Amino acid sequence: MAPLNLAIVGTGIFATDTHLPTIKKLTSLLKPVVAYNRTKSKAEAFAAKAGIPENKVYDSLDQVFSDPEVQFVDALLPVQFNLDAVKLAIKHDKPICFEKPIAANLEQAREIVQLSESSELPIMVLENWSFLKATQILKKDILPQLGDVVAFTYNATGPWNSDNKYLATNWRLKPEHIGGFLSDGGVHQLALLTDVLGQVATIGALTKQIKKESGADDTLFSTIKMKTGVIGTFTYGSAFAATDKSTKFKIYGTKGSVVYDWSPALPKHKITYQLGSSAQDKSEEKVIEIDEVDTFEEEFKNFAEAIEKKNKRLIRVPPTKAFHHLAIVAAALESSEKQGSSVKVESP
Ligand SMILES: NC(=O)c1ccc[n+]([C@@H]2O[C@H](COP(=O)([O-])OP(=O)(O)OC[C@H]3O[C@@H](n4cnc5c(N)ncnc54)[C@H](OP(=O)(O)O)[C@@H]3O)[C@@H](O)[C@H]2O)c1
Repeated sequence: MAPLNLAIVGTGIFATDTHLPTIKKLTSLLKPVVAYNRTKSKAEAFAAKAGIPENKVYDSLDQVFSDPEVQFVDALLPVQFNLDAVKLAIKHDKPICFEKPIAANLEQAREIVQLSESSELPIMVLENWSFLKATQILKKDILPQLGDVVAFTYNATGPWNSDNKYLATNWRLKPEHIGGFLSDGGVHQLALLTDVLGQVATIGALTKQIKKESGADDTLFSTIKMKTGVIGTFTYGSAFAATDKSTKFKIYGTKGSVVYDWSPALPKHKITYQLGSSAQDKSEEKVIEIDEVDTFEEEFKNFAEAIEKKNKRLIRVPPTKAFHHLAIVAAALESSEKQGSSVKVESP
């Protein structure tokens, strides 16, 4: 099979630092042929690195989608423009994958879901955390040994990092997207949570802004009820003063418990579990060190397969799934405005 010709639109930090190196690793699958960016000079620099000819650096999104050579579009735009890109994809009947979060708010996200459901076109949200091998290990190998899952704690907290280059991007400094960093990074965490334990029914949350540079609330403490009845806490924030970056997801069942730890200080991400229904019949702790996959490669492989097989059902993160991640953030923000009362997570 010949590689698929793709256009990269929004040639900013993530396109340059992550998508381009990933595309270059997947030469049998992908060939970059077009680039577009609001500031054209950035697309030109990107095209030079990607081996895209100068005459294929375009001046508008419409031109990108109109090029018959382009077989799909890879969009890495400020998220408030995702809806416009999806509308063009539908208009030109051209598959599109675009970066998380699905949209800037639930109205736009709902429109994207409706557009995607009205068509057979492959449309995918690039939520790379949904490709984590750890999720499959937890779901298939560990959870079945834990009896009935009853509760969880999910903690992803860390210190403010002023060197983070994403902080300087204008669309993050003055976010049009709900929750600023809470939706920007939070949807990754919520993808992991819901991939393992299923959908969230209700959330009661308190949020606050610690750093003015965050542009919006950057810290979230919450209690959650899953649709299965499982209860838990979800804590997220990277705007604290000096502290360890701590990322731990602990799940309690009637016959044991498990902790997934993906703290950056660890040489490998780690799953630790113990079985037994009480302190008296507790087994030895078992540890699995994970050789994690490259989730960016995996998401491109998944999308390429859906295009090749003309089957959008193969897509691991369709818009309807990514809608749920953003809807949890929206419910958390609404709850915080209501002093933490429980709010139902909206459906598309
Ligand atoms: N999966 C992950 O781990 C991950 C990590 C980082 C980012 N992301 C996602 O990747 C996307 C891009 O983020 P980023 O950090 O790379 O931001 P960025 O550096 O600001 O890149 C966005 C690019 O889009 C361009 N742009 C803005 N408005 C546009 C428009 N209307 N049409 C065309 N191009 C436009 C910007 O050009 P100008 O220079 O003209 O503003 C900029 O080059 C976001 O959706 C983000 O959520 C994902």
